[in-house]
Amino acid sequence: MVTLNQELASLKESLTSTDRMLAERTAERDDLAAKLAARQEPLPMRIDLNWLETFDGKIWDKKPESPPAFFSRKNRPVRFISVVNLKGGVGKTTTTANLGAALAHLGKRVLLVDLDYQGSLTSMCLDDSELRTVRSNKRFVERILEGYGVDENGLKPWTQRIANDKAFYLVPAEEPLCDVENQMMIKWFLQGSGGGKEDPRYVLRRVFHSAEVQDAFDIVLFDCPPRLTTACINALACSDYAVIPVLPDERSTEAVPRLLFTLRTLRQNHVCPDLAVLGVIANRTYATFSTKTLADREEAAWNYLKRICDNEMPDESIRYFTNCVKQFTNEAFDAARKKRFAFHAKNFGDGFRQLTDELLQAMQSREERG
Ligand SMILES: Nc1ncnc2c1ncn2[C@@H]1O[C@H](COP(=O)(O)OP(=O)(O)O)[C@@H](O)[C@H]1O
Ligand SMILES: [Mg+2]
Repeated sequence: MVTLNQELASLKESLTSTDRMLAERTAERDDLAAKLAARQEPLPMRIDLNWLETFDGKIWDKKPESPPAFFSRKNRPVRFISVVNLKGGVGKTTTTANLGAALAHLGKRVLLVDLDYQGSLTSMCLDDSELRTVRSNKRFVERILEGYGVDENGLKPWTQRIANDKAFYLVPAEEPLCDVENQMMIKWFLQGSGGGKEDPRYVLRRVFHSAEVQDAFDIVLFDCPPRLTTACINALACSDYAVIPVLPDERSTEAVPRLLFTLRTLRQNHVCPDLAVLGVIANRTYATFSTKTLADREEAAWNYLKRICDNEMPDESIRYFTNCVKQFTNEAFDAARKKRFAFHAKNFGDGFRQLTDELLQAMQSREERG
């Protein structure tokens, strides 16, 4: 007769041995799973063609799903300005640099942001030793676009002081910006309609509209490249204003309505609904700032420009700046070589100061109109 105690002991023994077996099999399974994971090839990526087709051949026009907030300018000291024209060689970089120098001279806290992978603004603003510092600290705009973001130090880790000025800074750019921009764009195309990833058009808005940055500067000028690149769309989506430098000749003026059409489409599609076109600035004119008289051919191109722009954007009161940037003389080029900015040349400082006053006044009257 098997006693109850004996039966219980035998059951316990059998349970212990089953537990042991289970533990062994589990370890075996985990081991095999780890080996399998180590050998497994990544699954081939499924490209969502329907999603790609929704771009309709355009890259940036797509209506955003949930863009980050555009912090109202009424509640911040800083103003964001994109210096933009989809044509190269019209003076975007020259205008950005010299307006920046003139604004800093007025006591404004100024930040310039180079968004062209060619880095022309960077080489204009920094000397060799500053560039070396920038390189060793990897203070380049592409790092911001890559998503390094800002902490309580704001933009400090990404900015370089210009010419030891106490409130004049640059976020520099160099060639790898181009790779980062492509990578951001490709990732967006490949992410598929499920979304979930950050919209690559709003990285700068997220950073520059953060509390740490808004209070650190009065004016941020984005020097845009001559194409609607990832960096350029980021600047537009972050900016209050677009300022358009143009050469007053017929071929250059034709690029402006094309840009206005692009900006209008971006606004209509809610990509950058808060962006206002502040105005058009003539560069390389033979006018004198005191008389503000343009040469006849320049005057004709300027009037033609006004007509075609008002046609393209009839509801926007675009300002055709009465102050323009004169064709540099040797003296201005010398000043730019020695002191970095033509603004410091004797006969050019006043011109840039007047242009800067007009810029500030244009913003003020826009804002008073609401
Ligand atoms: N007012 C000016 N007088 C003389 N040369 C100028 C002037 N503005 C720009 N440039 C020259 O024209 C070229 C293009 O100017 P830049 O500012 O780099 O244009 P963008 O940024 O639109 O490509 C540069 O070599 C620059 O030195
Ligand atoms: Mg440029």
